[in-house]
Amino acid sequence: MTHEAGWAHAPGALRGPSWLREPADPNHLVPHLWSSTAHKVDGELHVGGLPVADLVAEHNTPAYVLDEDDFRARARAFRDAFSSYDVYYAGKAFLCTAVARWVSEEGLSLDVCSNGELSVALRAGVDPARIGYHGNNKSVTELRRAVAEGVGRIVLDSFHEIERVAMIAQDTGLPVRVMIRVTAGVEAHTHEYIATAHEDQKFGFSITSGDAFEAVRRVQDAPGVELLGLHSHIGSQIFDSAGFEVAARRVLALHARVSDELGVTMPEMDLGGGFGIAYTTQDDPSDPAQLATEMSKIVEHECRALGIPEPRLSIEPGRAIVGPAMCTVYTVGTVKPVHLDGGAVRTYVSVDGGMSDNIRTALYDADYSATLASRSSDAAPVLARVVGKHCEAGDIVVKDEFLPGDVRPGDLLAVPGTGAYCRSMASNYNHALRPPVIAVRDGVARVVVRRETEDDLLATDMGDQ
Ligand code: LLP
Repeated sequence: MTHEAGWAHAPGALRGPSWLREPADPNHLVPHLWSSTAHKVDGELHVGGLPVADLVAEHNTPAYVLDEDDFRARARAFRDAFSSYDVYYAGKAFLCTAVARWVSEEGLSLDVCSNGELSVALRAGVDPARIGYHGNNKSVTELRRAVAEGVGRIVLDSFHEIERVAMIAQDTGLPVRVMIRVTAGVEAHTHEYIATAHEDQKFGFSITSGDAFEAVRRVQDAPGVELLGLHSHIGSQIFDSAGFEVAARRVLALHARVSDELGVTMPEMDLGGGFGIAYTTQDDPSDPAQLATEMSKIVEHECRALGIPEPRLSIEPGRAIVGPAMCTVYTVGTVKPVHLDGGAVRTYVSVDGGMSDNIRTALYDADYSATLASRSSDAAPVLARVVGKHCEAGDIVVKDEFLPGDVRPGDLLAVPGTGAYCRSMASNYNHALRPPVIAVRDGVARVVVRRETEDDLLATDMGDQ
């Protein structure tokens, strides 16, 4: 909704979005938005067998709370549902050494997209052969390191990268296994997807332009470079398999053409990640078993139609594993009723974090929910907006949520679904210290990423000498 004075002035803005229903009791959690061990006891939120108030007493706020059992269960659910696939956890969603270990222990492989993520994976002891390496602009230095460490597959994204890996294979004599990232002309988000003939984006080789076929040919000609297959990732927060279906059809057609015209049967194919989660009550994600059934049916059908054997498939879920496993706990600082045109009042609830620990609302207009986490309240719900403490009006964490009308300074507020792309996209804006990640399980808390300190911030400031 646009308005010349900004979206907040648009007519009807205060009513909140149409999907947001006023709850009968704002103390209640909506279970499917939370990790599996989250529940309330007398209004106090507990996760992993611990009251978050106890975590806060020890570790302060803001803090990310990571439900280890929930993370592991989601990882296992993907591994079990996609049992004939390789499942790569997309580390860009959130990665630290503890999580990399859990991923390996649960039998998943791991995707990285930078030398930094690779270092975390290696420090965690992840088998390099089970690491995939992504990125649209991998330097020679980065590629050399990936090859030297024995990374299992490098997903190539440009003709330059083909030249780079060909040179590295020749120089080092080490095995270089690659996939080719193709753009299938499908862009998918939530329930919508767009299928086009051309692609206007930085990732991948276009199938329609012929670049993807040419990339396969050049990799085939590169001595020492082994081509595993094609790779396609169509978008994020997808709930509907229609986009995957169109993409799979196009990628499999190319796979078959390569086999026909070049006589090369590529053994593998990756269908990417992007599986959606529930951030608010408007979202209705599929479970992994449902996704596996649908995707496998699509591939089976297409391969039969093309008369080709099915390649070994892989997928790369990130958000769907870590997203719901984490929540962020904040302390309320100020509460400000703001009178709007027409006499309505919006309650601005300011917390001690904001766009530095969750940029997704500001960046993508993402929706989140929140709950009072430290007590129960009998007050009638008010439509609130949870905002951060940064010097920017767009510093919003939760655009619209019903909170008890007596929400006040010192209350704890928790926001679910913050596991993916929140800590991993966190910044030091306004020299904020990035919050810790506290893993909880069976009543035991462990800091897996500590809070930054002012010394961390000042460490890179070299002064003016
Ligand atoms: N594979 C590839 C090649 C990807 O590019 C991505 C995400 C994934 C897998 C994992 O997607 P997931 O299952 O986590 O949706 N920062 C944005 C999302 C960017 C996703 C980038 N690529 C956000 O916060 O929504």
